[in-house]
Amino acid sequence: MSLTQFNAGDAASAAGAPATKVTVPALNEMKRQGKIISALTAYDYATARLADEAGIDLLLVGDSLAMVVLGHENTLAVTMEEMLHHTRAVRRAVRRALVVADMPFGSYHGGVAEGVANAVRFVKEAGAEAIKIEGPRFELVRVVTEAEIPVVGHLGLTPQSVHRMGGYRVQARNANAVRRLRADAFALADAGAGAIVLEGVPREAAAAITAELAVPTIGIGAGPDCDGQILVFHDLVNLTFAPAAKFVRRYGDAAALLRSAFERYREDVEHRAFPADQESYHLSKAEREVLWVEPVRDGEGEDQVVNRDALQEWES
Ligand code: KIV
Repeated sequence: MSLTQFNAGDAASAAGAPATKVTVPALNEMKRQGKIISALTAYDYATARLADEAGIDLLLVGDSLAMVVLGHENTLAVTMEEMLHHTRAVRRAVRRALVVADMPFGSYHGGVAEGVANAVRFVKEAGAEAIKIEGPRFELVRVVTEAEIPVVGHLGLTPQSVHRMGGYRVQARNANAVRRLRADAFALADAGAGAIVLEGVPREAAAAITAELAVPTIGIGAGPDCDGQILVFHDLVNLTFAPAAKFVRRYGDAAALLRSAFERYREDVEHRAFPADQESYHLSKAEREVLWVEPVRDGEGEDQVVNRDALQEWES
């Protein structure tokens, strides 16, 4: 089956969300109608599926993958191959949400042609429906959009610029910088960007740009006035092993839940409390009797394939 072969009619209707597939034009329509856009990062099948079923509108396979999944110090190390691998997993899980893949550091910095080629790979090899590009790269956004690939821009605190910025600092903190940010947002929209992530900027700057811009803004650390909000999944559920940034709200404590599950499992194994007899497979009474009186016939009982689906059949 092709990666992109999903029927919009199959889209899960969850949490009251419309079952219709979310597209980039649909995001624009949401802005027009004043409907807020919910977005979250996703990196694997299980969590992407749950987020999609919960009615999240946009799932971004962010290059934050480098940090929250792969344990790197910043986002710079993640490769195209790693991003493609995780985008495929998310794409397999999602029926309704828009799947956006993040162009990793180095995948477009060598020039527009390289950027377009890598954007095409996300669509062709991983089923992405849009790609995200950090920074004011107007020409690249224009050419990728002309290649029929919707683009989400990303301005403000752009983590791939960590060395140039001298750390993860709030951007656009004075009137001049806000004017530059506004001009960049307008130029990105003119170049064809279908939406723009605004990260780590003052609420007032994000609010003013959102009010004027025709395409939706999606904020992270940009205050409540954007057209949508995005958070990193691991921040949302406390899986980051670090104090949360000011803009993060924890909606669950997956770390506590998992720690407790792992500890209880280990204790049960150590005390031989797991597995119990009810969690074991049994020979029938007749076979048990045969087992102790008849010698094992040559080859019997060897190379049995254990198939989880077949086990139930075998038991009944
Ligand atoms: O990579 C990422 O997770 C992102 C979001 C923070 C917008 O770019």
